[in-house]
Amino acid sequence: MDYLKVKNNKLFLNGLDLKKIAKKRQTPFYIYSADQIIENVKLAQSSLIKSNPLICYAVKANSNIEIIKKLKKNNIGADVVSIGELKLALKAGVNPKKIVFSGVGKTDEEIKFAIQKGILSINAESKNEISVINKIARRLNKIVQIGIRINPDIKAKTNKKIATGTKINKFGVSVDDFLNVINSKNDFNNIKIHLLSVHIGSQIKDVSSYKKVLTLISNLLIKLKKINHKINFIDLGGGMGIPYFRNDKKFNFKKFGNEIANFYKKEKIKIIFEIGRFLTGNSGLIVSKVIYVKKTKDRYFIIIDAGMNDMARSAIYEAFHEILPIEKNKKKFNKKIEFVGPICESSDTFGIYKNYSIIKEGDFVCITNCGAYGRTLSSNYNMRPLIEEMIIDKKQLKTVRKRQKIENII
Ligand code: LLP
Repeated sequence: MDYLKVKNNKLFLNGLDLKKIAKKRQTPFYIYSADQIIENVKLAQSSLIKSNPLICYAVKANSNIEIIKKLKKNNIGADVVSIGELKLALKAGVNPKKIVFSGVGKTDEEIKFAIQKGILSINAESKNEISVINKIARRLNKIVQIGIRINPDIKAKTNKKIATGTKINKFGVSVDDFLNVINSKNDFNNIKIHLLSVHIGSQIKDVSSYKKVLTLISNLLIKLKKINHKINFIDLGGGMGIPYFRNDKKFNFKKFGNEIANFYKKEKIKIIFEIGRFLTGNSGLIVSKVIYVKKTKDRYFIIIDAGMNDMARSAIYEAFHEILPIEKNKKKFNKKIEFVGPICESSDTFGIYKNYSIIKEGDFVCITNCGAYGRTLSSNYNMRPLIEEMIIDKKQLKTVRKRQKIENII
């Protein structure tokens, strides 16, 4: 989080004092830095400049409309996975010709809506889905250009819960099935297959997994040429990882960009990316208040007011998100401490620390790197309302989604 800075032992996001902000509102809340998002966009765009791709933002990472609008202004399209995300992207003003629609379980309603809106590509993930798209297109009297997502059977180096590209995963069709579909395209008179997509997983740090994908696609393009099938787009998905702890490895976007540039030079085909985490992950944090400091024989439990319903990544993936005090005390705890939420589950924990600076009840802490898959994975578990989201844009702080009212979720 480049825009999170310590000054006189206090934390500032984009130059704004987090303690001052926290004192004035109900905790916990999300707060994002618009500058950080734009900086991430610029890094992705400049690294990929030689291949001039269409970058679509994977809306599932953070579905705040202000963020999508900001990305749109910077030439970013949208990758959506439901009618809800599609409506959101359209509402944010994203051009339908810059929207791709992925997902293994699209319903008739979703397919029909996507066709009617004329989005760039519905990326089908099974032969059954292709038949359904064809049928709906016929009913609407349209020829629809679609994509097919292949499952390359390539294992990305990442947490197995977020790897998607091997044959045990539900995503995409095998290369053989892809070629069979292309060969049987006469069965589908109302569709044209204009795009090939692939997404091997999320939070990937090494470029080598992507290199394997590019080689596989180059070989596939040779086969397609032989059978005279022209593809207009290659959609390489997303997955570029971010560092979550100090000295954690960074994804080498420049090196990745060079690989993509070589591929583009050779294949001369329009490339699409569906990037989520890399664009928003390090832009946001949760500010939370310490409710109790509970001393046991073994440790201090620091019980904060943010729980696994507000930020599920630690509970689901055992993901590490560093927790920092908003104001640092010079004295240290003499025992280990564990940050936990108020939810009635043992998995509602945010990690154990040693030699942590002393924090007291009523103090504020922040959970870092929550800009992607933070709010979007949250729930009303334990009847807790979804929390407020704010953004700092040009040094101005504004609420971009209000905290839910309990009355509205009863
Ligand atoms: N394209 C497709 C088809 C995807 O399924 C995903 C993510 C993306 C693009 C964007 O991937 P990204 O660039 O954000 O890595 N909840 C998990 C991550 C799940 C990712 C699901 N698919 C987490 O918190 O780590």
